[in-house]
Amino acid sequence: MKYLLLLITFQAFALDGPALFAQNCVLCHGPKGLGDGVAASSLNPRPRNLMSDPFKNGDTVEQIEKTLKSGLNQMPAFTLSDEDKTKLAEFVKSLRSK
Ligand code: HEC
Repeated sequence: MKYLLLLITFQAFALDGPALFAQNCVLCHGPKGLGDGVAASSLNPRPRNLMSDPFKNGDTVEQIEKTLKSGLNQMPAFTLSDEDKTKLAEFVKSLRSK
């Protein structure tokens, strides 16, 4: 019973792709990933429109994970868990297929 409770608590704290995006990416990429976050106008080059702009490093889930790990110019590298980077990369990928 104790363990079940622990498991439920842990799951409640695990964030999904959209929540991770809201927490880490919206400032620059905007709430919908259109590259229009509040910090966007002060950056050069501008944050990518994640739905439609081409990606320099490629846009497979693996390539996006790499970008998150290394950063790209004004975009910082993220020290998130591999699992969270995968969730974020899959979320970005899903934006591109809309
Ligand atoms: C401080 C602002 C900032 C934050 C925060 C940020 N980005 Fe970026 N992002 C940028 C900028 C600027 C670029 C364009 C970099 C360039 O081309 O030099 C970029 C580019 C990208 C690209 C395209 C990379 C390529 O290969 O062209 C992806 C994908 C991306 N960001 C995803 C994310 C995700 C996911 C997050 C959240 C975990 C995030 N970004 C957070 C500023 C930011």
